[in-house]
Amino acid sequence: MAEQWSDGQQTGTAASAPAPWSALRAALAETGIAPDDGTEAIARHLGAPLVVKLGGSVGPGETVLQEIAWLRQVGVWTVLVHGGGPLITAWLDRVGKTTQFVDGLRYTDGETLDMACMVLAGLVNTQLVAALGALGGRGWGLSGVDGALLRASVRDARLGLVGEVERVDADLLQFLCARGYTPVLAPIAVRADGQPLNVNADAVAGVVAAAMGARELVFLTDVPGVLDASGQPLHRLTPSACAQLAADGVIRGGMRPKVEACARAAAAGATSRIVDGRAPYSLLRALCVAESGTVVVPDAAER
Ligand SMILES: Nc1ncnc2c1ncn2[C@@H]1O[C@H](COP(=O)(O)OP(=O)(O)O)[C@@H](O)[C@H]1O
Ligand SMILES: [Mg+2]
Repeated sequence: MAEQWSDGQQTGTAASAPAPWSALRAALAETGIAPDDGTEAIARHLGAPLVVKLGGSVGPGETVLQEIAWLRQVGVWTVLVHGGGPLITAWLDRVGKTTQFVDGLRYTDGETLDMACMVLAGLVNTQLVAALGALGGRGWGLSGVDGALLRASVRDARLGLVGEVERVDADLLQFLCARGYTPVLAPIAVRADGQPLNVNADAVAGVVAAAMGARELVFLTDVPGVLDASGQPLHRLTPSACAQLAADGVIRGGMRPKVEACARAAAAGATSRIVDGRAPYSLLRALCVAESGTVVVPDAAER
């Protein structure tokens, strides 16, 4: 067990509970998860990166940065992808910028893209990295423009400067993780000609999880999971079940790109979980409690 929990820096067992594990075990106990079961579930994440998408709807998250810092200290690599849509809207309102909508979707003109870069890569990213550092983590903030980490092309000219990611430089993320950093990624990509493009953060999380060979992708959002037509959480879905729910109009709006990202991750063998990120220790719960939120497993897993 000691080797299994080692990342080359720390070794330990549940019984001896070295310092990095003891904080996690205390948090698990506080959450009502038996610490031995929780540590076993967390230990399964050693050796494969975890991708966490923090929704703009959740803000900085209750405890998620602390959880990510502790997880890294015991050897679990996390790549944190963040959104920030509500804050972009607030700043656009603040400067009196009016937004055009095309079929209910925001049209991203040059000024809107500038604001997205300022808010996402500037403000939100900097604040998350700073807060993670104060909690004992080592965040490395970057957007998809840095090192051309996320290469994209325009998704639909009618929506303006919105990108669809075509290539992820997973090596760069692996490199940062291996050096002890937690990449904190703002969802801005770059076109081959150097034009930055706004990309949906859920989509970024999906392609990053697929490119990194992540074991699990966790969406922290403002609902308890995917809800059915009567508002009840659905606990287990496949990409094809998600597609049907979207076709039926049950999955709409901000939930659509999440389930599409889950499908993308599933095609690469990753399990995704959509959970309520507003509660304390929601990430630990997502990793350790099988019934938390909605899990999206590859179609093959259900056959
Ligand atoms: N079937 C559904 N189940 C749950 N949420 C849904 C569903 N269909 C649409 N939604 C909406 O998706 C929202 C989450 O997406 P979004 O607001 O973009 O949050 P985030 O900032 O986490 O991306 C929910 O608050 C809800 O309004
Ligand atoms: Mg969203």
